[in-house]
Amino acid sequence: MSAEVTESAAETEAVGALLAAGLGPGDVVLVSGELGSGKTTLIRGACRALGVEGAIASPTFTIGRRYEGAVAVSHLDLYRLEDLGDEDPALLDDYLTPDAVAFVEWPEIARELRLRDRVRVARTVELRHAGGDRREIEIAPIA
Ligand SMILES: Nc1ncnc2c1ncn2[C@@H]1O[C@H](COP(=O)(O)OP(=O)(O)OP(=O)(O)O)[C@@H](O)[C@H]1O
Ligand SMILES: [Mg+2]
Repeated sequence: MSAEVTESAAETEAVGALLAAGLGPGDVVLVSGELGSGKTTLIRGACRALGVEGAIASPTFTIGRRYEGAVAVSHLDLYRLEDLGDEDPALLDDYLTPDAVAFVEWPEIARELRLRDRVRVARTVELRHAGGDRREIEIAPIA
């Protein structure tokens, strides 16, 4: 487990890039934290490091997006899953594929989907507001 404090969005992107260096196809990263804590920012840094170009923002009208970088990358945001009222596990199948590195925002919302039983969770990340632009980031590797 490692924890660190960043002072800017750019620093959080850099943490994401470091995280990405240890990931490969099939790895899933669960990214937790309050609203605005920097989940998407960290994932943006990770995606850039994985060779994804263009805009990286949270999916809005779908629960996920796929990008093509040096590897396939999936970015899920389950925040609105509750509203959709649909917890069909197949919903995630297009994104959590063996060829892709996947990042999941708000993984706790999908408890019913039993993510941990269905995919290889490689890391969990927890972000916390630490005053102003400071964010505390904890990354735990999963054995
Ligand atoms: N140290 C920091 N790390 C990350 N983001 C920061 C930091 N300081 C300021 N910010 C700003 O905080 C905001 C974080 O937004 P971001 O969309 O990454 O959060 P999020 O956790 O994905 O939010 P949501 O729960 O809405 O999806 C951005 O506007 C970013 O520029
Ligand atoms: Mg987000």
